[in-house]
Amino acid sequence: MLKKVEKPLIERLKTGVPGFDNLIAGGIPRGFFVAVVGEPGTGKTIFSIHFAWKGIESRDKVVYVTTEESRESIIRQAEMFGMNFSGAIASNRLIIIDALMRSQKDEWTLEDLVIEELVNKIIEAKKALGYGRARLIIDSMSAFWLDRPAMARKYSYMVKRILYRWDFTTLMISQYAVTTSYAFGWGVEHVADGIIRFRRGIRKGILRRYVIVEKMRQTPHDLRMYEVEIIDGKGMNIVKPTEMRKEDTVLPSDVKKKIVKNIKKEEKELP
Ligand SMILES: Nc1ncnc2c1ncn2[C@@H]1O[C@H](COP(=O)(O)OP(=O)(O)OP(=O)(O)O)[C@@H](O)[C@H]1O
Ligand SMILES: [Mg+2]
Repeated sequence: MLKKVEKPLIERLKTGVPGFDNLIAGGIPRGFFVAVVGEPGTGKTIFSIHFAWKGIESRDKVVYVTTEESRESIIRQAEMFGMNFSGAIASNRLIIIDALMRSQKDEWTLEDLVIEELVNKIIEAKKALGYGRARLIIDSMSAFWLDRPAMARKYSYMVKRILYRWDFTTLMISQYAVTTSYAFGWGVEHVADGIIRFRRGIRKGILRRYVIVEKMRQTPHDLRMYEVEIIDGKGMNIVKPTEMRKEDTVLPSDVKKKIVKNIKKEEKELP
């Protein structure tokens, strides 16, 4: 008979969002590649900013790729919550790769939004920051497959495989509108070690935000949906479990069928 083994000790990285780490047994396992998904304005970038700041505070090296906002916009947003991103850049603990502005004078930008260039630039940034545990945020990956959502899985697999060797724990942000959510589901979610999904809803005339951990390998994670707050001067905060009904977030089945059909067609047309 084989003897039982000890429960493995897993090194976990805190996200820095008050209340969130409790949902995932203390943090994200080191080296994981986690998809953060959700509609516009649900808090994906603010969640990422917290994760980056916690890394800076913990002396991790942090690389933040931004494709939808400029570097200045990310710095300003962080500073609204008292996080000194400019200082972290000046002391070589943070590099923000600005893939939106793409100014020729900027060392940390991309010439084109192509996945090979992204990966090379991230490795260059890691080398510039130096040896050691690192965090990577790609906010967002959607920009790289905007015109070809069926490439999502291939691209994210590539990024995961190549960057694994560089000691990154990665958040890969992906936005989706209701109509493209299945394009996303078809691609990335199997490649990811974890899925953190942000949602929104209007309740009694007020916009509310929610988060649910849909997947976190090697983790006895919470299965409930939580309400999320974003507070000026402080940032994101997890409030309490909520009782949203399934119908509040799920697409009508005829819409779902149509989307899945389109995705299958698109995958077939791939080279
Ligand atoms: N200082 C602040 N105080 C309170 N709420 C804020 C503050 N700054 C931003 N917000 C809220 O956060 C929202 C933006 O969140 P965030 O940028 O993280 O969304 P996102 O999910 O990344 O959206 P997108 O997919 O469009 O990038 C704003 O729409 C606003 O409601
Ligand atoms: Mg964002």
